[in-house]
Amino acid sequence: MRVLTGIQPSGRLHLGNYLGAIRQSVKLQEKADDCFYFIADYHALTTVSDPALLREAIHGVALDFLAAGLDPEKVVFFRQSDVPLVQELAWLLSIVMPMSRLELAHSYKDKLAHGKEATHGLFAYPVLMAADILLYRSDLVPVGKDQKQHLEITRDLAVKFNLKFGEVFKLPEGFIPEDVATVPGTDGQKMSKSYGNTIPLSGTDKEIKKAIMGIVTDSAPVEAPKDPETNTIYKIYRLLASPEEAELMADRFRAGGYGYGDAKKELLRAYHALLDPFRERRAALEAHPDDVRDILASGAAKARVEAEKTLHAARRAVGLE
Ligand code: TYM
Repeated sequence: MRVLTGIQPSGRLHLGNYLGAIRQSVKLQEKADDCFYFIADYHALTTVSDPALLREAIHGVALDFLAAGLDPEKVVFFRQSDVPLVQELAWLLSIVMPMSRLELAHSYKDKLAHGKEATHGLFAYPVLMAADILLYRSDLVPVGKDQKQHLEITRDLAVKFNLKFGEVFKLPEGFIPEDVATVPGTDGQKMSKSYGNTIPLSGTDKEIKKAIMGIVTDSAPVEAPKDPETNTIYKIYRLLASPEEAELMADRFRAGGYGYGDAKKELLRAYHALLDPFRERRAALEAHPDDVRDILASGAAKARVEAEKTLHAARRAVGLE
């Protein structure tokens, strides 16, 4: 089984990225035959237009993955743009991609609704993502629920291409565990940079405290019994804490006499308990940027070998070779 995933360097990563994608991707490195994890920098260009920021964010995502425990011996870890062959495959896929399907894509419509300009890059984003997945002949793709439609488009494209030109592509499966499929942000909506509701993964203590203490709650008094299932603090807490700790918080809420302020402090404690070791490893890696660069360069060399094989088959299938 081959596992593949990608993360956009569109800014600093947040807790949703970590719980929804990075944590299980890193766990899967133990079970998979091989893994291809990459920094989706071509994709990030659809939203980031400051070159210095992009460079910084690329390095930041590399640090995040490595600090989270990605083992470069087990994972081919690389930058998407270090293997530009993916763009050729995106073109070969675009010739079977129906326009109407892209026009209906959630993430495209969502970006437009948030005032982004309708560029061709944004529109064709799912085709490039399909190329990422199919180029490396992936079996399993761990992602959050917001990527589900992109995986469906990928499978449909693979089927269409195979029917038209012969069996070239493998059909990938998504890996979207229900509990972390959509990590809520501080306002209860999906945690997302574009909604301004994130809890950072690598921020300062002050930034993390500010985000957690800023979680939006209702005005129920301390004494009132509260339903944990409708409560953003609890919904995030249960993803960080042990099952016993989560049960204890749920009981406290149900019993009444437990205020949101106390729950936020407990969430902050659980955040630090889980993520301080990550943050320490990240700080240590930060002091060795050359090591990070070497890991990505060696990953790119391995990724290129795989990419060439698939692209060769696709080029032959359409008649370019
Ligand atoms: P991106 O960079 O937006 O997000 C990276 C990963 O984090 C997950 N995620 C979440 N999961 C749960 N709850 C949340 N609130 C949350 N926010 C983000 C995303 O689902 C994703 O798994 N298109 C991809 C990048 C990509 C890719 C690929 C992924 C490019 N090519 C090929 C897999 C395979 C993206 O924008 O993710």
